[in-house]
Amino acid sequence: MTPNTCSCLHRIATKLPVSIHITKLLSIFFLFFVPIFDNFEKMTILIEQPDLAGVEVEGKKMETNELVLDGGFPMPKLDAHGGGFDAPEINAFGQSFRDYNAESERQKTVEEFYRLNHINQSFDFVKKMREKYGKLDKTEMSIWECCELLNEVVDESDPDLDEPQIEHLLQTAEAIRKDYPHQDWLHLTALIHDLGKVLLLPSFGELPQWAVVGDTFPLGCAFDQSIVHHKYFKDNSDTYNSSYNTKNGVYEQGCGLENVVMSWGHDDYMYLVAKENGTTLPSAALFIVRYHSFYPLHKAGAYTHLMNEEDKENLKWLQIFNKYDLYSKSKVRVDVEKVKPYYLSLIDKYFPAKLKW
Ligand SMILES: [Fe+2]
Ligand SMILES: [Fe+2]
Repeated sequence: MTPNTCSCLHRIATKLPVSIHITKLLSIFFLFFVPIFDNFEKMTILIEQPDLAGVEVEGKKMETNELVLDGGFPMPKLDAHGGGFDAPEINAFGQSFRDYNAESERQKTVEEFYRLNHINQSFDFVKKMREKYGKLDKTEMSIWECCELLNEVVDESDPDLDEPQIEHLLQTAEAIRKDYPHQDWLHLTALIHDLGKVLLLPSFGELPQWAVVGDTFPLGCAFDQSIVHHKYFKDNSDTYNSSYNTKNGVYEQGCGLENVVMSWGHDDYMYLVAKENGTTLPSAALFIVRYHSFYPLHKAGAYTHLMNEEDKENLKWLQIFNKYDLYSKSKVRVDVEKVKPYYLSLIDKYFPAKLKW
């Protein structure tokens, strides 16, 4: 969730005073001058800016580096490919995307989620989960059947999303399709990227949210400061394991992310499903599926010392994908029946009719 931590925080820090200043000016303007306008009600409706107190709180959080990396940080709208994708500025809750510090009931749920996640995701835990779910002995179904199955799932860790998952999958896929019409593999990648969330369902063991969703990070080496709510790692046993708590830990510099154990969740599970069922999607697609929640890497630039050359190439696609994944979580409706035939044709091209899960 911006090539490295320093530059990301720097960009936030340099923008912050300006936004405070503008907010102050806006407050003064609307307090003293707006009432004289005849269409006062109409104008106040337009003002949905965060108040000053909220901005100050965010600033303090940034100094302690406990804020999610781009929380409240206005990411640029995409314009590099014809400007087709117009990124909305607020999510379904009327707040900035990935603004974990927004004043909302949901914030406490998200923080509690990360507390549990950071305590329980350990090197040993992940090894056990990969072994268990790598057997792919839960069920057999097609990709589209899984899309429909996923409709019941709500992702507690996500501050932006409050709609059926299939809508999010298709919103993401359709937004990418509009701007990258010739990369059909990318459209399908968007469709499947969250299917691993079926791990939350009873028939898949009903794993707790902290073991399925949220930002991911490597195990077996030190937890980077850029990981959201980093403070809760103090209660993770790996923090005190001398084999795991150094920069490289059990890895070698440049070993390739393929050899790195990531925290367990829907990303790694769907990667296993796709790979073991013999998908013909390119390696960039599998990279996106596996690391799309690895925000410490693709927004903060942490852990790049573990990447190899192929990872660096694939990361470019992941960064493109991620903007759509993030911004398509808004109230743009997709006509599922209308686009279904296209996605069925892609599934047929890149996957077997039935997959083991
Ligand atoms: Fe995801
Ligand atoms: Fe997603």
